[in-house]
Amino acid sequence: MQEPREQQLAEPLIMTMLMTPEMANFSGNIHGGSILKMLDQVAYSCAAHYAHHYAVTLSVDQVKFKKPVKVGELLTFYAQVNYVGRSTMEVGIKVVAENILSKESRHTNSCYFTMVAVGDDGRPVQIPQLLLNSAKDKARFVAAKLRRQLRIEHDSTMQAIDLKWTEQLDTLSEEEIEEALNAEMGSR
Ligand SMILES: CC(C)(COP(=O)(O)OP(=O)(O)OC[C@H]1O[C@@H](n2cnc3c(N)ncnc32)[C@H](O)[C@@H]1OP(=O)(O)O)[C@@H](O)C(=O)NCCC(=O)NCCS
Repeated sequence: MQEPREQQLAEPLIMTMLMTPEMANFSGNIHGGSILKMLDQVAYSCAAHYAHHYAVTLSVDQVKFKKPVKVGELLTFYAQVNYVGRSTMEVGIKVVAENILSKESRHTNSCYFTMVAVGDDGRPVQIPQLLLNSAKDKARFVAAKLRRQLRIEHDSTMQAIDLKWTEQLDTLSEEEIEEALNAEMGSR
């Protein structure tokens, strides 16, 4: 008989970093790539901490930088595992920038990473199931499950676009390409 799967609570992870000049881009604000790297580190820490295993990044959803982050500000990342599959975890991260002197703070962005727990051979491993105690935990889980479904649908739409407009083009004649283009452009 299969052993029941271990269950575990998600623990929030908070990381704060001072934004230093070497992280700046040409306009003097913090480089988007520097923030992406920090987000990835936070997602890794949160996922590996939950899974007790090494974790790799499978995907990251849309990251939008609506307002620049400035040199000298404190950037705080609030991370939490929202959803656990067999080996995958959705880690949600909220980013808040704070002016150290005035203490004014603003929510700069939020994003979702899908992380996979892997064993020593680099293959996915089963991790503890997420224990959902509060209504808030349950709401996070439900929302993450809906996003997971959306990602699957988005992946298959992207694959269909690639197949039709990139991979299959080599196998089509000029006339067939023209026909497909007319059908597509006609609907604009
Ligand atoms: C992550 C990785 C180990 C998954 O390997 P895989 O052969 O696809 O593994 P599986 O098919 O067993 O899938 C493992 C899990 O990933 C999920 N998954 C795999 N491909 C997916 C996709 N395109 N979208 C959503 N979920 C996906 C599966 O649903 C499964 O979830 P579950 O275990 O919670 O049910 C592999 O893709 C990998 O090593 N990627 C490189 C990771 C990396 O190096 N990241 C750093 C950035 S370069």
